[in-house]
Amino acid sequence: MNRPIGIFDSGIGGLTVAHAVSKFLPNETIVYFGDTAHLPYGDKSPDRIHSFVEKISDFLLHEMHAKSIVIACNTASATSYEYLRDKYKGSVPIINVIDPIIENLVADNTLKKVGLIATKTTIESGVYQEKMKRRSPSVLMEVLPTPLLAPMIEEGFSKDKISSTIIENYLSHPKFKNIDALILGCTHYVLIKEEINDYFEGKVKLFDATDILALKMIDIFRKEGLLNENKEAKNTFFVSDLTASFQASAARFYGEDIVLKHKVL
Ligand code: SIN
Repeated sequence: MNRPIGIFDSGIGGLTVAHAVSKFLPNETIVYFGDTAHLPYGDKSPDRIHSFVEKISDFLLHEMHAKSIVIACNTASATSYEYLRDKYKGSVPIINVIDPIIENLVADNTLKKVGLIATKTTIESGVYQEKMKRRSPSVLMEVLPTPLLAPMIEEGFSKDKISSTIIENYLSHPKFKNIDALILGCTHYVLIKEEINDYFEGKVKLFDATDILALKMIDIFRKEGLLNENKEAKNTFFVSDLTASFQASAARFYGEDIVLKHKVL
C-alpha cells in the first residue's frame, strides 16, 4: 500500500489536483508527471493525446510502481479515460477528474442550468454533456470553449485588467445567463476561481476537480484497501520539458515551492 499515487497532466496545471490530493491524503506519496513538452492537450486530437498518455501511464505504472493513476487533466480525462481504463483493466484504479464533478452536480438537486468552460477538445468530446444528460436529464447544460484562459493563467495574469477583461468576455456570453452553477473544466481554472466567483458576485456555484477529486479518492482507496498508513517517501514531480518558466510557475499551481525534475519518455 505504500506504493505512490501516479498523477499526470498535460503540464503543470494538474499540480492544483496534486496539491489537493496531498492535503486530503497526507500519508500518500505522489509521483507527478506534467507533459510540458506536449502541452496544451486542449487543441490536440484524441489519437495524439492517447499516444502521450499511454507512455506516461506506462512510466508511472511500470517504472514508478504507482498503485493508482489519476488523470489530472480534463482534456485527457475526456478523450482517454476509457482507453486507459480498458488498457489497464484490473491492474490499478484509473481515476479521472470528470466523474467526481458529475457526481457532485447530480447530488445537488437545486440545479436547473449549469455552464461548462473548458478547452476546445474537452467541449468537443461531449463527455460532460453526455454524462450529465444521462444522470440528470432535466438539467440544462450550456458549454463554451475558453481557450485563452489556460495560457493567460500560465503567463501569470490574474486579478488584473487583462484577466478581468478575458474572464468577463467569456462569462458574459448569453448562454450563461441565469446559470446556477459553472464547471471549471480545466485544471488551470482553479487559479482564477476567486475572480470567477467575484464576477458572478458569489451567486453561482463553482465546481472544480480539486477537493472533490481528493475526497472521491479517499472513498476509492478505502474500498480497494489502498490507503497508506505512513508516508514513506517525498513527492516527486517530473516534467517532459523543463524550463525556468515552468519551474517558476510550479509553486503558483502547487501552492508551495517544489522542484521539477526533467524526464523524457
Ligand atoms: C490543456 O492541456 O489544454 C489544459 C488541461 C486541461 O484540460 O485540464
